[in-house]
Amino acid sequence: MSIVSTKEMLLAAKKEGYAVPAFNIHNLETVQVVAEAAAELMSPLIIAATPSTIQYAGPDYLLAIVDVASRRYGIPIAIHLDHAEEVERIKSLIDLGYKSVMIDASHLPFEENIRMVTEVVEYANRYGVSVEAELGRLGGQEDDLTVDEEDSFYTDPDKAAEFVERTGIDSLAVAIGTAHGLYKSEPKLDFSRLQEIHRKVDLPLVLHGASGIPDQDVKKTIALGIAKVNIATELKIPFAEAVRRYLIEHPEANDPRKYLTPGKNAMREVAKNKIVMCGSNGKA
Ligand code: 13P
Repeated sequence: MSIVSTKEMLLAAKKEGYAVPAFNIHNLETVQVVAEAAAELMSPLIIAATPSTIQYAGPDYLLAIVDVASRRYGIPIAIHLDHAEEVERIKSLIDLGYKSVMIDASHLPFEENIRMVTEVVEYANRYGVSVEAELGRLGGQEDDLTVDEEDSFYTDPDKAAEFVERTGIDSLAVAIGTAHGLYKSEPKLDFSRLQEIHRKVDLPLVLHGASGIPDQDVKKTIALGIAKVNIATELKIPFAEAVRRYLIEHPEANDPRKYLTPGKNAMREVAKNKIVMCGSNGKA
């Protein structure tokens, strides 16, 4: 197999009622970890990279690494550009071979969001690239959701239906009470809003900010139409903690193959648990 678009993966997940995990990676080691975890559990996999990760790793380097992973294991693997805000940057990555992109114009007013997303969709369609966009907004200022649940930050179900209709996107990221990063207190998700969006929007829905959300809540969102679950922070933490522990216990260590291995092992266990949580195991 070679790198696939997320489109078919997400439609299959939506149809069968599971979600595909989108794991944010940063380098060779983290790509290896998520690919090994997915291969072991026979799960489809979305490897997600933000613009800053792509800049750090190098767009061609990263694509080549993911390409190797996609050929090595008998599972569908996609590489997805996560939270890109610049249209020209997105187009250049599509030109390079990225097959799935998120245009995040959620900070713009509704009409401008539509305009920018439509421009990306028109370009992406020419190359068979799938497009995710976000309506509603989740971000740093939403970290402590129990304090302020301003409706204006959440996805409006009617607007979502109009947004999907007018843009022609392939998947929709929704804001229903999650936030990026960890939570100071237990997040409260707006399940009835999600249910309403699901009723009005016939597309795979995407849950951002899944780190720190209890498994049973994520499963409930999957039952209500979430077909892609984004996880970053909960993978980074065990990796860093295990490496830190190793370096403290072995102050003389200087071989990356030695001190990175505990990080990889710790991250792989979390990735496997998340795959089972998504119900994508055995679906490859
Ligand atoms: P977390 O860091 O909260 O897991 O969010 C990941 C995400 O949504 C990436 O788009």
